[in-house]
Amino acid sequence: MDLETISARLSALQEAGLAAIAGATDPEGLETVQVAYLGRKGELKTLLGGIGALPAEDRPHVGAIGNRVREALEAALDARRLELDAAALDARLAREAVDVTLPGRPFRRGSLHPLIETNREIARVFGQFGFVVYEGPEVETDVRNFQALNIPPDHPARDLWDTLYTDMPGYLLRTHTSPGQIHVMQQAAPPIRALLPGRCFRYEAVDASHGFEFFQVEGLMVDEGTTMADLRGLLDAFAHAMFGGGRPTRFRPGYYPFTEPSVAFDVQCVICDGAGCPSCKRTGWMTILGAGMVHPVVLRNGGLDPERYQGFAFGMGTDRIAILRYGIDDIRMFIENDLRFLEQF
Ligand code: DAH
Repeated sequence: MDLETISARLSALQEAGLAAIAGATDPEGLETVQVAYLGRKGELKTLLGGIGALPAEDRPHVGAIGNRVREALEAALDARRLELDAAALDARLAREAVDVTLPGRPFRRGSLHPLIETNREIARVFGQFGFVVYEGPEVETDVRNFQALNIPPDHPARDLWDTLYTDMPGYLLRTHTSPGQIHVMQQAAPPIRALLPGRCFRYEAVDASHGFEFFQVEGLMVDEGTTMADLRGLLDAFAHAMFGGGRPTRFRPGYYPFTEPSVAFDVQCVICDGAGCPSCKRTGWMTILGAGMVHPVVLRNGGLDPERYQGFAFGMGTDRIAILRYGIDDIRMFIENDLRFLEQF
């Protein structure tokens, strides 16, 4: 082979190599081209292998041409690789594109039951005055539900609570949260500030304002020198937090065997603002709870000395408070679990 032939072949090889590089459509194809032209057994090496047959003075010249060919091919390979990488990236981006303008899938968010909300709000308000939440059992003894609360067997006051008894003699479903007072007095030492929320049961015909199952919150404060004025101040603060500041309140005389004196606590009707409407039976007032000074007999049954300690107690129907807050007219809604109702809270 002479110089001319080998030069011609080298430039043909460069032409062919550049064409092959331009024709590669993916990184693997490009790799194959690179190996075929520049690899250890590639065309360029093979061609330059014939250099030994040339006259010595021609060899550097051919070597220089060979280097230029290799550089040209390497440069073309690098450029093509960048192109192919960019194209691959574009293709992948197009394939995996996310349309961020599409609306998301809505989450279905649960909400708390209105009675739980109300319960928490009641606990929050009394919590500001240092009241701590306790819980008593739903199955109670006749002793704690009645007798310790100054309601002996056969006492006519039992008619105030239509009781569901269990098969076990002496045990019943609590008719109110008041037996919790006895639990707390027996467990804790004064000063006592207890809040006792819970489910209660009565043998009642069910209608829009009565259920055989309902919730109450009981409050108990016992300390030295506790007075009715403390009770009134606390209940006013509660009424204003629940139903709006400045709403008038009043005490009316009431009767409960476990408090003496006993009162009913009224707030001005939240529906008609006192003008008189069907909801308040045209009185302009709504009774929201019963309360009074803890009877000395009850203090003694709780293990406390009535000569030293005085206390007040109050009990309210959670359902009733919730009805007034949310303007609901039927307490059966609270236990029917109709989602159309519950989702509104
Ligand atoms: N336990 C009473 C009821 O169920 C409510 C009640 C009234 C609770 C007066 C009290 C209270 O603590 O002092 O009707």
